[in-house]
Amino acid sequence: MAKGFFISKAVGIGGIFVGVAALSIIIALSVVYSQEKSKNNNNQVSPTDGGGGTTTTSSTKPTTTPPNNPWNKYRLPQTLVPIEYNVTLWPRLKPDPATGLYIFTGESSVLFECVEDTDLIIIHSNKLNYSGSMSDGGFAHLSAVSGHSVPSVNEGFLFFETQFLVLKLNGNLLKGQLYILSLNFTGELADDLGGFYRSEYTEGGTKKVMATTQMQPTDARKSFPCFDEPALKSYFNIILIHDVGTVALSNGRELESKNVVIDGQNVLRTVFERTEKMSTYLLAFIVSDYGNIGNNIGGVDIRIFARKPAITAGQGDYALNITGPILKFFEEYYNSTYPLPKSDQIAIPDFNAGAMENWGLITYRETALLYDEEFSSNSNKQRIATIIAHELAHMWFGNLVTLRWWNDLWLNEGFASYVEYLGADEAEPEWNVKDLIVLSDVHRVFAVDALTSSHPLSSKEEDIQKPAQISELFDAISYSKGASVLRMLSDFLTEPVFTKGLQSYLKEFAFSNTVYTDLWKHLQMAVEATTTELPDTVNNIMNTWVLQMGFPVVTIDTTSGAVSQKHFLLDPDSEVTTPSPYNYEWIVPIKWMKTKIIQTPKWLTQKSDTVNEMKVTTTSDWVLVNLDVVGYYRVNYDEGNWDRLLSALSARHEDIPTINRAQLVDDAFNLARAKIIPTVRALQTTLYLKNERHYMPWQSALNNLDFFFLMFDRSEVYGHMQDYLRNQVTPLFEHYKTVTDNWTKVPTGHMDQYNQVNAISLACRTGLKACQDLVQGWFKMWMDSGNNPIHPNLRYTVYCNAIAAGGAAEWNFAWEQFQNASIATEADKLRAALACTTEPWLLNRYLEYTLNSSLIRKQDATSTIVYIAQNVIGQSLAWDFVRARWNYIFTQYGGGSFSFSNLVNGVTERFSTEFELQQLKQFKEDNADVGFGSGTLAVDQSIERTQANMKWIAENKENVLNWFIEAVKTPT
Ligand code: BES
Ligand code: ZN
Repeated sequence: MAKGFFISKAVGIGGIFVGVAALSIIIALSVVYSQEKSKNNNNQVSPTDGGGGTTTTSSTKPTTTPPNNPWNKYRLPQTLVPIEYNVTLWPRLKPDPATGLYIFTGESSVLFECVEDTDLIIIHSNKLNYSGSMSDGGFAHLSAVSGHSVPSVNEGFLFFETQFLVLKLNGNLLKGQLYILSLNFTGELADDLGGFYRSEYTEGGTKKVMATTQMQPTDARKSFPCFDEPALKSYFNIILIHDVGTVALSNGRELESKNVVIDGQNVLRTVFERTEKMSTYLLAFIVSDYGNIGNNIGGVDIRIFARKPAITAGQGDYALNITGPILKFFEEYYNSTYPLPKSDQIAIPDFNAGAMENWGLITYRETALLYDEEFSSNSNKQRIATIIAHELAHMWFGNLVTLRWWNDLWLNEGFASYVEYLGADEAEPEWNVKDLIVLSDVHRVFAVDALTSSHPLSSKEEDIQKPAQISELFDAISYSKGASVLRMLSDFLTEPVFTKGLQSYLKEFAFSNTVYTDLWKHLQMAVEATTTELPDTVNNIMNTWVLQMGFPVVTIDTTSGAVSQKHFLLDPDSEVTTPSPYNYEWIVPIKWMKTKIIQTPKWLTQKSDTVNEMKVTTTSDWVLVNLDVVGYYRVNYDEGNWDRLLSALSARHEDIPTINRAQLVDDAFNLARAKIIPTVRALQTTLYLKNERHYMPWQSALNNLDFFFLMFDRSEVYGHMQDYLRNQVTPLFEHYKTVTDNWTKVPTGHMDQYNQVNAISLACRTGLKACQDLVQGWFKMWMDSGNNPIHPNLRYTVYCNAIAAGGAAEWNFAWEQFQNASIATEADKLRAALACTTEPWLLNRYLEYTLNSSLIRKQDATSTIVYIAQNVIGQSLAWDFVRARWNYIFTQYGGGSFSFSNLVNGVTERFSTEFELQQLKQFKEDNADVGFGSGTLAVDQSIERTQANMKWIAENKENVLNWFIEAVKTPT
C-alpha cells in the first residue's frame, strides 16, 4: 500500500521541483548567511531559547534550566514512526556565479505512523533551509493517507542545538493513523566531509567536483529532514538529479536514468530501486563522472567506482577480485545470503574516516580501496583487504541487524573489527593476517585501557545523547577492545558455537534492532545446545569485560601454583575513582603451556586461586600463560619463571610461539612502566632479538622502544641506546641483504616483507652506515633518472631517511612528486616522509601548508602536523605552530574533520620536562575561552602524561643508561 502510493506521490513532486530549481539561486544567496545568523533568524532558534514562537529571537533570555519542551531534548519523542521516504536531491557541481557557493536543492516526503497522539511534528534537520514561509506553516505540506482530516501546520521553526525542525499543529495527529509530510529545502554542498558534501580533485589539469555523503552518525539530517535515529528504520525511494555526463549512485540499483529539462536545464533524473528497511545513517547519494568495473557473483552485482584514470590504470582490480570471495565467506559465516542485489564500492578523494558501510554503496578513502602493483606496499594491500572485509561484515552485522542506539556502538564496530581479520584471511590465506590482531588491536588498546581515564565498553543509553557524545564513542575502546573481547569470546565458546549463536541472532532480528544482550542470549542458547562447559553464563562472563573499564594482570607464581588477578594500571600511583560493579575482577579464561606442551585450559573466576599444575619444580621448566594472546589480559610471573622464560628465549626462542614472544616483550615493557617489574627486566627481553627474524616480536619491541626514543632522543641516553639497538638490528639487516640477494628481490612472506621494513628503518635510524648509503643511493637514482627504483614496501622508509639526510633539493623533489602522484597511497608515503627533514625552515613551511587545503587536503591536515611533531626537530616547531594558531585552527576547523584529540596528543607526546609541563598548562589557561572541542580530554590527558613521563625519566634514566652501556660492552 505504502509503496504504491509513494510512487505516484513521487511523480507529483517532480512538478514542484521545477519551481524549486528556479528558486535555488535566490536561496543559495541566503544559505550560508542564514546559517551564520541562525540565532537572529525568526525561525531558527538558539540553544538557550525555549523556541516555538514566531517572535522568538536571540534576545530571549537564557534560562538557567533548559525548558522541558520536547525539542529541547536530543532524542526524538516516541510519537511518530517513519515508514517510507521519497527523497529527490539535486547537487550543483558548479558554484553559483553570484555567491560562489555550491548548493543542493531537495524535496522530501515522509510517510509516517502516529503511535501516540500529538500536536507536534519533530523531525531532524541540520543546516537546511526551507522554501516557503515558516512562520505560518506554509512551507510544509501535511496530509493524511486515508483521506481523513488532518490538522494544519500553525508554524514551524528550526531548533539549532538539538538539530530539529519543529512543526506546531492546530490539532492532534491521531494514534494509528498514517500521514505524509512534504518539504522543499536547500543546503550547502560544502567541503566539510559531513552529510551531503563535495569533494574536489584535478584530472588532466582540470578541476573536478563530485557530490557524496557521510551520514554516520548524525548527518543524514544535514542532507534531508528525517527521523535520524538508528532504530527508526524505513524504506527509501531516492531520486537524484544530475548533469548529463555524470553518474548518480545510491543504496539501491539504478532503475532508470532519463533526460529531463528542469528550469531550462537539460539534466538527468536517476531513479533508484526502493531500499530495504534500513537506518538513515546508512544512506548514500553520490554524483560524479567516475568510471567503474564490475562482475556478477552468485547473482550479486559487484562494482568498484573510482576516478576514471584510476579505473583505467587497473587500481580497482584488486578490490573487485577480493570482494566476491569475502562476500561468499560472510554468507557462510553468517549463514545468510547477502541481503541486497548489488554491492557498490567507491573511492572518494576527500573522506574523513577510512571507509563507511552505507548499505549497498560503501564509500572509502582512496588509499583504502585502490591498489596498484607499482605503487602500493604490502601494508597498503593488507589495509584494503581488511577494510573491505570490515565494511562487508557490516552489511549483515550493523546494517541488516542494527543496534538500537549508539551506546551499543562498540558491539557494531568491535564485531566488524574482529571479523575483518577472518574475511581478509579468506582473501589472502598466505598472510596469517589473523595473528596481527594482537599487535593492531589487543596491544594497541591495552595502552589506553590501562589508564584511569579509560571507560567501559558499554555506555548507558541515557548518557549518550548529543552528536558529540556519539562521535566520541568511535574510539580505540569500541573498536579494538570490542574486537579483542569478541575474539576471546569466540575462542572460549569455540568457533562453531559462536557462529551458531551469531547466525540465530541475525535470523531473529533481520531488518530490525537489538541491544547487545540479545547477542549474548543467542550465544547462550548455542552453548546450551552443546556440551561446552563454562564457569558461568555468557552474560555473566562477558559483563565483567563489558561493564567495567580496564583489564587484569594475571600473576602466576610457579613456586606455589598461585594464580591471582589485579586491575592493571600503567601508572601505579593513579587512583581509580570510578567504582565497578565487579570490583575490577574478571572471569578470566586461561590457555597455557608448560615447556612446549599445551595444557588443559583453566578459568580464573575469583581474585586468586591455586592451580597445582602451574607449580614448577625443575630448574628448566617454564610456564607460559595466555597462549596466542587470546585472552584480554597481561601476565606476570615470579622471578624464577621470568628467568626461565628469558633463558628459553635466548637458547631456543622457537620453543615459545611467535605471538607469545611478542607478548613477552609487550607485557614486560608495560609491567615495567607500571613498576611491577624492573625496567631492566623489560630491556632484557630485547637481548634475544639478535637471533629473532620474525616480524611480530620485532614489531612489539619497536612499539615499546618508541617510548624510549620519545623520552631519550633529546638526552645523553640516546647515543648509547643507538649503539645497542644498532648492534641488535645489524644481523637482521644482514639477513635481509642475503635473502633479497643484495636488495634485488622481495622477501616471499607477507610478515617477512614487513620485517624487512623494520630492519631497514631501525638500521638507518640507529645510524648503520650501510643502511644509510643504501637508501640515499636509491633516492639519488630516482632524483637523477626520474625513474623510481624503490620497491613500494620500502618507499616510506627510504623516502623518510633520504629526506632526513638531504636538504631543500630532496625535499622539493619529494614535494613535487607528492603533488603529481597518480595514486593516493604514493602521495601518503611522500606526505609522511616530507615530515622527516631536519631543516627547521622546511618544517615550518610544511606546517604552513597544512592549513591550505589546496596543498594538503583537509582530511590529512591533522595527521601531517602530527607527523612533523614526531620528528625530534619538528616537535617544538609543531607545538609552537599549534599554540600560535589555536584560535584560527579551532574556529576554522572546529566543526569538521580536524581531530583535535589526535592533534593535542600528537604534538605533546614527547613532553617530559617541567618547562613543557608549564607550557602545556599555560596553553590550557590561555585558550580556555576558545575551547578545545573534542580535544578537551586530550589536554588533560597530556598534562597527566607529561607528569608521568617526568616521573618515569627521573626514576629510570640512570638505570637505563647504564644498562645500554653494559649491554654494548658484553656481547650476547
Ligand atoms: N562505520 C565506520 C565509519 C565511521 C567511523 C563513521 C567514524 C563515522 C565515524 C566504518 O565501518 C569503520 O569502522 N571504518 C574504519 C575502518 C575499519 C577497518 C576500522 C575507519 O574508518 O577507520
Ligand atoms: Zn566499522
